[in-house]
Amino acid sequence: MTSSQSTGQRPTNPTVVITGGASGIGRAVALRMARDGCAVAVWDLNREGSEAVASEIRAGGGRAIGLSCDVADRASVDSARSRTVSELGPVWGLVSNAGLDRLSLFKDSDPADWRAILDVNLIGALHVTHALLPQMVEAGGGRIVCVSSDAARVGSTGEGVYAASKSALLGFVKTLAREMARNGIAVNVVCPGPTDTNLLASVRSRSNGERIIEAMTRAIPMGRIARPEDIAGAIAFFLSEDAGYITGQVLSVSGGLTMVG
Ligand SMILES: NC(=O)c1ccc[n+]([C@@H]2O[C@H](COP(=O)([O-])OP(=O)(O)OC[C@H]3O[C@@H](n4cnc5c(N)ncnc54)[C@H](O)[C@@H]3O)[C@@H](O)[C@H]2O)c1
Repeated sequence: MTSSQSTGQRPTNPTVVITGGASGIGRAVALRMARDGCAVAVWDLNREGSEAVASEIRAGGGRAIGLSCDVADRASVDSARSRTVSELGPVWGLVSNAGLDRLSLFKDSDPADWRAILDVNLIGALHVTHALLPQMVEAGGGRIVCVSSDAARVGSTGEGVYAASKSALLGFVKTLAREMARNGIAVNVVCPGPTDTNLLASVRSRSNGERIIEAMTRAIPMGRIARPEDIAGAIAFFLSEDAGYITGQVLSVSGGLTMVG
């Protein structure tokens, strides 16, 4: 263990894994972390998309790899971890961002969808964290940021099981933050509000989708839906030198849409 890591300092040019980094928020995080000097491993079900993001980073002079990974499958996660460590070195930062949503009122929902949502949003986050923690402990430091949702904090019509999966992450992160604090590992949560990504496009494509999005936009004090870069900025903060003494916290990034404690 180096004394710099045990005090929460960020090593020079650390390696950071971003799950679900092929599009939307994850892609914005990958580009931002590369700009901040990190070596970036993009893990995503979408192999072409993750490779495209990694190529974009390499074209700009950064270090990056794009890997095919299903976070719901432990063997796939372990294989992505091995390739990442052999190509970019030990992982200091994890952004557990891969997510799945299936919109439906709970009374109309299909139990097959419950399992799919929990497998990616909850079990997937557990797999990637469990796979990467031992090397962070060994190194004497690390950072983990879980991407949850404001749906976990305040509920969201049509997202009952999604909200359940994202709420579970809040309890998990607070517990892990306690367990790992003495190992120099900080663990925090970012809860995006409505953000302009594929996930929101699935709302837009529904019959009354445009109306829902207009109403949502009107309700946001800052008057606009978030851009992926707005969320990436908050995640980058938790991975920055300045956040070394912050752990177990939940940050809503929603233009003021939700302000509960
Ligand atoms: N967009 C929003 O309004 C919003 C709001 C709150 C929270 N979030 C959360 O932000 C995160 C990113 O979502 P986004 O909005 O950028 O959507 P997105 O659909 O653009 O990105 C999600 C990414 O996760 C990947 N993915 C899905 N299942 C996977 C799996 N099993 N293994 C690996 N990768 C997988 C997808 O291929 C995709 O690239 C998600 O966790 C989502 O729940 C989004």
